[in-house]
Amino acid sequence: MILPIVAYGSPVLRKVSKDIENEYLQLDKLIADMWETMYASNGVGLAAPQVNRDVRLFVVDSEQIFKNMEDDELGKYPDEPGFKEVFINAHIKNLDGEEWSYNEGCLSIPKIREDVFRPELVTMQYLNEKYEPFEKTFSGITARIIQHEYDHLQGKLFIDYIKPLKRKLLQRKLGDITKGKIKVDYKMMFAK
Ligand code: NI
Repeated sequence: MILPIVAYGSPVLRKVSKDIENEYLQLDKLIADMWETMYASNGVGLAAPQVNRDVRLFVVDSEQIFKNMEDDELGKYPDEPGFKEVFINAHIKNLDGEEWSYNEGCLSIPKIREDVFRPELVTMQYLNEKYEPFEKTFSGITARIIQHEYDHLQGKLFIDYIKPLKRKLLQRKLGDITKGKIKVDYKMMFAK
């Protein structure tokens, strides 16, 4: 089932999400719905707060990004192309490597893209969809998407990294998104 994506301005996007306990109802269904919702909106990642659940869960599939890359560009990203994973109770263990910039967007903040600097490497502690525990280090685009989705669990958004002056210039656009004065080709849920 495709779920509406929560738009910028909704309080759930500013909450710190909680770990999922064993008895969390219908987790399999929520994960399946998140995949369906992410693919329907052409996303490469989706975090639970974006579908109005304040739990530490996100899904990532970088295939769309790599599919549209030329071979020489692909060479710049030595990480696994088309990496797909469910992250349950995700926590960052370590950030490392040099910061690099990439033009990011977010399904909750449509039609805004900005360059964001993030560290090259991220080590994650998480459970996969079978509740198997992992501690794994990611690099490249995959590490980038993971850090973006992880921020959603911390109540943080990519626009928070933008310098104040530039952010000020975005205020009107952000206000329009909050009020639902925006056209998108996927289902959204607005604050007002
Ligand atoms: Ni996002």
